[in-house]
Amino acid sequence: MKQLSERIFYVGVNDDDKVLFEGLWPLPVGVSYNSYIVADEKVVLIDTVECGFEDEFIANIEEAVPGRQIDYLVVNHMEPDHSSLVALMLEKYPELKIVANAKTLPMLAGYYGVPEEKVMVMAEGESLSLGSCSLSFHMIPMVHWPETMVTWLAEEGTLFSGDAFGTFGSIDEDVVDTEDTFEQYRDEMMRYYSNIVGKYGGPVQTALKKLAGLDIKRVCSTHGPVWEKNISEVISLYDKMSRYETERGVCLVYGSMYGNTAAAADALAMELEALGIPYAIHDLAGNNAGELGVSGALRDVFKYDTIVVGSPTYNNGIYPPVETFMKALQARMIKNRRFYAFGSYTWAGASVRLLNEMASTMNFEILGAGLSFPQAYTREKVDMAAVAQLLR
Ligand SMILES: Cc1cc2nc3c(=O)[nH]c(=O)nc-3n(C[C@H](O)[C@H](O)[C@H](O)COP(=O)(O)O)c2cc1C
Ligand SMILES: [Fe+2]
Ligand SMILES: [Fe+2]
Repeated sequence: MKQLSERIFYVGVNDDDKVLFEGLWPLPVGVSYNSYIVADEKVVLIDTVECGFEDEFIANIEEAVPGRQIDYLVVNHMEPDHSSLVALMLEKYPELKIVANAKTLPMLAGYYGVPEEKVMVMAEGESLSLGSCSLSFHMIPMVHWPETMVTWLAEEGTLFSGDAFGTFGSIDEDVVDTEDTFEQYRDEMMRYYSNIVGKYGGPVQTALKKLAGLDIKRVCSTHGPVWEKNISEVISLYDKMSRYETERGVCLVYGSMYGNTAAAADALAMELEALGIPYAIHDLAGNNAGELGVSGALRDVFKYDTIVVGSPTYNNGIYPPVETFMKALQARMIKNRRFYAFGSYTWAGASVRLLNEMASTMNFEILGAGLSFPQAYTREKVDMAAVAQLLR
């Protein structure tokens, strides 16, 4: 528990045990599920936390507002990492009313059997008075689900933003950012955005335009630190990523069964190094424990303007983990990228041609026919110096 202002308390939790977020995305430095209380004449809880943290969550609430009832529970977002404890809250605080929107209503019923009469349905922009201050509610559909809204507390310049401006990484007990926090979390924020929200660049842009008029002094998202000192940095990073804007550099990803495509990838990395071209390299086959795989590769796709993909030919196709990565790019509607493919085969190469075909569905600028080579990688067979020149 941490008091953020006279009226606002942080009552969220850190999850340092979960291995994969959504069963997919590695969490090497954990994640937090943030929940907040605004205590005025009325007491409001904004979002809950993931199940498994019941005791800690209730202890946080009781420490923040000892002996008080919770009058309202605002549900900004129904994804279970935030809504899991809705039913528990209704049980513990029988007088509690849920504050949500028309799209949330059937989801509350479907997940937790919440009857309609328990829910106050807010229209776009509608406010709810708490006594000395009031909350207003604004839809930000598809950031990250269709029912998602943000809650604005004008009297404190505080935006309860749901998943927007969130990041992976658990948080320290200070909760609120310092000058250094943005740089500490930048990579995890990019990974969070690219993995979780990356498909919804358009809706994020719409949401940002909607929020542009607000004088925001504090951003309370559902994952990661509370932002007070780095608000412009955080918003501009989200703005940049949702416009698919990048810097010059190479996101080099590959998968390899027997090390031949991997050897070519390593050779290319050395050439990029020699030319001073910024790059990141990701092994998608998961040969090395601790690697971020597709999750890390997607982060760097949002960073660099060039995607280079290596895959051996596998049953006349692309090696499955690499194909998964390519589909992840298609799903995120990645645009404005340069592309190059390479890979080993033994009797009839297909992977490079198929990778180029997938890249052309995304209108990538394909920098050359690609480099499909038989069997082992050798310097004589595979001229990665020439490939690196193409990528300058
Ligand atoms: C299950 C499996 C399927 C394969 N399918 C093909 C294929 O359809 N066409 C081909 O030319 N080579 C095929 N190969 C051979 C690989 O492409 C070849 O061994 C390549 O050198 C592997 O590259 P790597 O060392 O980067 O894994 C296959 C290999 C395996 C194990
Ligand atoms: Fe979400
Ligand atoms: Fe979330």
